[in-house]
Amino acid sequence: MPIVRGKEIEVLFSASAIARRNLELAKEIASRDFERLLVVSILKGSFIFAADLIRAMHDAGVAPEVEFIMISSYGAGQVSGEIKVLRDIDNDVGGRDVLLIDDILESGKTLSFTRDLMLERGARSVAIAVLLDKRMRRTSRIDAEFIGFDCPDEFVVGYGMDWAHAFRELPYVGVVRGDARQS
Ligand code: IMP
Ligand code: MG
Repeated sequence: MPIVRGKEIEVLFSASAIARRNLELAKEIASRDFERLLVVSILKGSFIFAADLIRAMHDAGVAPEVEFIMISSYGAGQVSGEIKVLRDIDNDVGGRDVLLIDDILESGKTLSFTRDLMLERGARSVAIAVLLDKRMRRTSRIDAEFIGFDCPDEFVVGYGMDWAHAFRELPYVGVVRGDARQS
């Protein structure tokens, strides 16, 4: 197991498996008849997935515009339903096909809030692409059109996802398993 910050990391999805899956997702996206596609990457966790997926989309012949939105997160102990936009996109989504990109679809609160916001603003359609889907955790009625992998019910890090802002740089997705033994 790789060791990072003195912790053993169990790799769930390797860099090469993610790269292969991104190409497949990009082809699925390219096969849909999106018009004037606007990609909206939900910060911060999706930044690496979005960076790779939009380049795979380019290889698949898709030429979107790309924007970023930052949505407040709510941790354990925080009151949910208090989702807010911390940093909004710059452009009008009226009449546009929007593709939201996020790292994980878990309860679905973040993505249903963001999807509703785009629809209220007049988006023609809103589709969702996520790297990981934790279906067992869903509380909102929402699903993604494009899913990288089904994720086990574990707290994962890497490929943009963090544990207290650490581990985002890992090129793979993994689970922190504990302290590495001294040798
Ligand atoms: P939801 O609103 O419950 O669907 O939350 C999804 C958000 O929670 C994701 O965008 C992630 O930022 C974060 N999240 C959920 N599960 C994990 C995890 O296992 N590791 C890191 N972040 C996570
Ligand atoms: Mg997030």
